[in-house]
Amino acid sequence: HPHVASKRVSIVHNGIIENYRSIRHRLEALGHRFSSDTDSEVLAHLFVEAFDAGMDPSAATQSVLAEIDGAYAFAVMSTDYPDMLIVARNASPLALGIGDDACYIGSDATALSHLTRKVVYLKDNDYALVRATGVAVYQADGEPVNREHVIVAASQGLVDKGGYRHYMEKEIHEQPDAIAHSLAAMTDKNGCLTARMSEKKLREVEGIVLLAAGTSHYATQIARYWIESLANVPVVCEVASEYRYRQPATASYNLAIAVSQSGESLDTLMAMRHAADCGMSTIGLVNVPNSTIAREANTVLPTRAGPEIGVASTKSFTAQLTVLLCFAVALARVKGQIDVARANAIHVEIQGLPGLVGRALCLFDEMRPVAHKLSSAKSALYLGRGALYPLALEGALKLKELSYIHAEGFASGEMKHGPIALIEDDIPVVALLAADSVMTKASNNLREANARGGKIILISDSDAAVEVDYASAVITVPNVSSLLSPILLAVPAQILAYLTAVEKGTDVDQPRNLAKSVTVE
Ligand code: F6R
Repeated sequence: HPHVASKRVSIVHNGIIENYRSIRHRLEALGHRFSSDTDSEVLAHLFVEAFDAGMDPSAATQSVLAEIDGAYAFAVMSTDYPDMLIVARNASPLALGIGDDACYIGSDATALSHLTRKVVYLKDNDYALVRATGVAVYQADGEPVNREHVIVAASQGLVDKGGYRHYMEKEIHEQPDAIAHSLAAMTDKNGCLTARMSEKKLREVEGIVLLAAGTSHYATQIARYWIESLANVPVVCEVASEYRYRQPATASYNLAIAVSQSGESLDTLMAMRHAADCGMSTIGLVNVPNSTIAREANTVLPTRAGPEIGVASTKSFTAQLTVLLCFAVALARVKGQIDVARANAIHVEIQGLPGLVGRALCLFDEMRPVAHKLSSAKSALYLGRGALYPLALEGALKLKELSYIHAEGFASGEMKHGPIALIEDDIPVVALLAADSVMTKASNNLREANARGGKIILISDSDAAVEVDYASAVITVPNVSSLLSPILLAVPAQILAYLTAVEKGTDVDQPRNLAKSVTVE
């Protein structure tokens, strides 16, 4: 980027033009010469063609939009109209910033917030002509349309590293605040946990579909343990990219919760739209206010983690878990599955979480030698049981995406069904263990891995650590009830991945091949 055609039109594009091959063949037959193999370049040539045919910017955009299929947010500059940018979007996000004497375009408000807090969000199939003096927004058919000018919160502004070496390190340290603020968002004016929807609506919830990708998907998998055990409401967790394409049977579910830090993951957005089309009511659980998922969902549950810049999710993950646990408690209460005393007891425990996470943050120095050893491994396994199983998946994802060490997470009890064949001398096995109802079974699974040569790196609470006398390294966090252990144990799992990546010298905040928000399928 940018892609330039005929030295006249330059474009930048986020998304995929699905029918670019046929467009390219048509244009090549007309004499257009392409300089790349990308789908994006056809946009530049289509605009040249439209301008050559005498169309003005608005008519040219309508004609281009009528021809392309796919997801896109793009911006066009032409030497014919030097005071103007043309922008358009479908599915991929795009925000226009309105300044005092300039206008700006960006993929979201965060990118613009050091320039202006006044933002216009385009809807799907909108296009806009952007000049320094203002923006004119149109629907795909050329009909002018007014889109609201939104004033975004100052906290959505760009942030610096605050003295930390990496954004990720800073964001790991921001977790006590992220959890406390997210808890506040889930507390009503009477000081009780709330699901931010009416009791009537909550009472009507019969089955819940949790839709998400990546780390957010692992948060939903943990939440399933909470919602089913506390509220006795059936839950399915769906990988968003699979959901709408596999023709799911939806009759038993009437609520879909799309969980997304960015609120822009295209897979999650599309899955939420599919759930809405199937008649479900929708909740968007997002960290970015005014994101597309937030704007389209019937109800918003906010995480208040603040801007997350590091590509690997950290504080947004523990904030998502906090909100999901609060939601589970509020649902269970309304459904009559737990009494006030139990709800209050859990609430008090969550209130104590920021302090406990703060203590877990002191583990950095102690974990450096462990990370140093792990950094020379070719492969690592992560094991957990119960709600710590999805945390094992998340721990493995953090390690592989940051340090490029191959890592797999397994349910401890599954080892004997196949994965134990992977255990060889000295393979690191990161074990997530808490003093809960499955601790003894989980510990037995770990002992078996250890007996076959696995080097156990134990991440556990203090009580569980006492049970394990075979670990090579023991990282402990304070004791906490089993409901909260996935949130607290997430912190050392993040620190381990972070420190290992630092040891390996990888690009921690921007790992290779990854984007912070994935706005293509
Ligand atoms: C991993 C990570 C990704 C995201 C995933 C979903 O550390 O950050 O796996 O969790 O791309 O992103 P959101 O939550 O923005 O929808």
